[in-house]
Amino acid sequence: MTASTPRTFHVKSFGCQMNVYDGERMAELLAAEGMTAADAREDADLVVLNTCHIREKATEKVYSDIGRIIKEGRREDGSVPLIAVAGCVAQAEGEEIMARAPAVRVVVGPQAYHRLPAMVAEAAAGGRATETDMPAEAKFAALPKRRKVGASAFLTVQEGCDKFCTYCVVPYTRGAELSRPYADLVAEARALVEGGAREITLLGQNVNAWAGEDERGRHVGLAGLAEALGQIEDLTRIRYTTSHPMDMDDALIEAHGSNPKLMPFLHLPVQSGSDRVLKAMNRSHSADGYLRILERVRAVRPDIALSGDFIVGFPGETEAEFAETLQIIDAARYAQAFSFKYSARPGTPAATMDGQIAPEVMDERLQRLHAALQRDSLAFNKASVGRRCAVLVERKGRHAGQWLGKSPWLQSVHFTGDAALGDLVEVDLIEAGPNSLSGRLVA
Ligand code: 5AD
Ligand code: SF4
Repeated sequence: MTASTPRTFHVKSFGCQMNVYDGERMAELLAAEGMTAADAREDADLVVLNTCHIREKATEKVYSDIGRIIKEGRREDGSVPLIAVAGCVAQAEGEEIMARAPAVRVVVGPQAYHRLPAMVAEAAAGGRATETDMPAEAKFAALPKRRKVGASAFLTVQEGCDKFCTYCVVPYTRGAELSRPYADLVAEARALVEGGAREITLLGQNVNAWAGEDERGRHVGLAGLAEALGQIEDLTRIRYTTSHPMDMDDALIEAHGSNPKLMPFLHLPVQSGSDRVLKAMNRSHSADGYLRILERVRAVRPDIALSGDFIVGFPGETEAEFAETLQIIDAARYAQAFSFKYSARPGTPAATMDGQIAPEVMDERLQRLHAALQRDSLAFNKASVGRRCAVLVERKGRHAGQWLGKSPWLQSVHFTGDAALGDLVEVDLIEAGPNSLSGRLVA
């Protein structure tokens, strides 16, 4: 049992980039309370598991992690770290976690984590605290101002989803679509840039559904927000993720041709290439409609790097329908993409649909999909060889003098030479693999 107030904490985030953002903000909240971050989980008095519920495997990880924390974190006096479960598993299965894992003292949903310090105090006093109310527009206002950050920073501009794809838990765990106000975002972006950020990635489950009013009261979408952020002088790169095809409006497509700070990269999930499957997924667009959007983006920004998400083995997916997914991949020529086996999520319409696909069929389809995507990312990277581009230095590499950074097309580029974290350096791309490139620093 932990009875005293924790002095050190460790936040571990699973899943999407929004969870990474939330995890950073939770760490800032705890630091503002005077707690210190512990690099190793075993050394922390408080462990926050910021969980993901999107696929079954992600959920299982939470329970095995709880077991491991208790085992590895047990002190000589027999006490264990205070465990808080945050994020989407907390939202969806809070009560179950409390019942199944007595060691968990705090359960806090993604819209309520501004209350984390108060809940930790309650738990440290011997109680248990649960907060999964939704939505909480109060959250962002209650978070501390952002301070020092890395060269590339996340900024959540939109949360939640009203699309209700039939396989997906997000509308239930993150709630309805909510756009944060324009002025708040401009202010937070300024604070990030003052803290060292040179690139900001705007985040949202449906980031391109963001809408707001600018300082003159005009209704603007994500393109307008990106334009306003572009005015921040020391901000050199703007990215956004994840987008829905139906929210790809004309202004945003055009912004890819006209906003020089908007990077040539678009993550636009399609999930399947079969119109029958897309309909059963409630995606509200056809395979062709999706490809037409890509064509329009390519027309204004020919070098754009495209990315997507795919699900294989959605209930009822036939071999012919899967072949249509391979076809849309051929047509789209992705620079990178994510592919997943369908995972039945409790409470979603697809979980009870007829025709659930056998695991070995899914495995086999995933392998073929993966091979096609690898082929295309290698082709995209190879086509970049010979290009000279700016690389934003994000990390030290594994070898002495080596640096890792990102090209405008979000490729990982490693090079050696005289550089520093946060630099934007000129690099010649000289060699390509499917997942990264090597470059030569331009003197
Ligand atoms: N099973 C498999 N993949 C899923 N995704 C969302 N829900 C599921 C599910 N139940 C994938 C989609 C989405 C990405 C974030 O995760 O491809 O775009
Ligand atoms: Fe889930 Fe679909 Fe919403 Fe994306 S658009 S978060 S896949 S429901």
